[in-house]
Amino acid sequence: MSALSELYKEIANCRRCELARQRTRVVPGEGAEDAAIAFIGEAPGWHEDQQGRPFVGPAGQFLDELLASIGLKRQQVYICNVLKCRPPNNRDPLLTEIAACQQWLDRQLELLRPKMIVTLGRYSMARFFPGETISKIHGKARREGGLIYFAMYHPAAALHQQTLRETIKADMLKIPALLAETQKVPEAKLADRPQQLSLL
Ligand code: URA
Repeated sequence: MSALSELYKEIANCRRCELARQRTRVVPGEGAEDAAIAFIGEAPGWHEDQQGRPFVGPAGQFLDELLASIGLKRQQVYICNVLKCRPPNNRDPLLTEIAACQQWLDRQLELLRPKMIVTLGRYSMARFFPGETISKIHGKARREGGLIYFAMYHPAAALHQQTLRETIKADMLKIPALLAETQKVPEAKLADRPQQLSLL
């Protein structure tokens, strides 16, 4: 069993916050274990809670479309969330829940070691771009420690605000060039990454 699958078992037993009581299923994340790119959303919604898989509802359908627009399938990337359990009625995550769940995301990223991290929405952005606002930094890349961080609006935002749909699509189209850039990062820099990730 892979280290990531072992971690999923630990996550499945997590009782670090109140969300554990109300969940139907834990949603650890899924995708290629050697994925160069990880997409990180906010928290499972109703569909995800039912299926135990990230982004399988309407926002997930749009994410699949966005991935297809750059020639990727979800099996080729990694997809997970800041929270692994659904907040009741899809309310915003609480700071205490984010703190309780943080170690899981940290450990996932240490095992995956992606070359590019794409944040989907405000909560994921806050983790990797502290103090920033999404309207200011979406579609812009930050290069640090051999990794590229890229912030996008949450795909669900496009379901409520049609005008954002085009913005999200345009931001997605910037990803292939950035991914190509990551192929050129020297291995020496990549060796430093576990520490860099845990500092974030
Ligand atoms: N929204 C998210 O942020 N994550 C999901 O998995 C589904 C919807």
